[in-house]
Amino acid sequence: MVFGFLPKKLLLPEIDKTKMETNKTFTMIKPDAVASQHIGAILNKITQAGFKIVALKYTSLSPELAGKFYAVHAERPFYKDLCSFMSSGPIVAAILEKDDAVASFRKLIGATNPAQAEEGTIRKEFAESIEKNAVHGSDSDENAQIEGNFFFSAFEKF
Ligand code: CMP
Repeated sequence: MVFGFLPKKLLLPEIDKTKMETNKTFTMIKPDAVASQHIGAILNKITQAGFKIVALKYTSLSPELAGKFYAVHAERPFYKDLCSFMSSGPIVAAILEKDDAVASFRKLIGATNPAQAEEGTIRKEFAESIEKNAVHGSDSDENAQIEGNFFFSAFEKF
């Protein structure tokens, strides 16, 4: 993936595609869901759906780190608000393991816009809006690995 228009400091480190895993995904419980005390309920839904938590961290993003994490959206009109929201309070970051993890997790969380999310999905249950949408889920194996590496070092993954 190449984003030639972005300054280098905004780009996440590339990964070795020959070592790509297909059974891992990355998630964040976003500031809205943390503030609404939904961490426990969301982690419960994730584990009930068969995901194993292999790394977990309660932390926060500075506006600069949020900008870096979401650099792929840098040209989108919502980028500034997204970075401001994602640095507005604590988040929970996690790496999850299950067969076909990326697709399986995106099904569990539902559509980006909770108004379009299916019944029973995490976003249908906990999200407020397309921006305050409770959780993030990686959209590819490559991004799952890049995003996991953004938050966790090798000795923090079990
Ligand atoms: P996420 O899965 O974290 O990935 C990018 C985020 O950008 C997405 O969830 C939404 O929260 C946000 N986003 C996507 N589209 C829009 C939009 N049209 N308006 C505001 N925020 C958006």
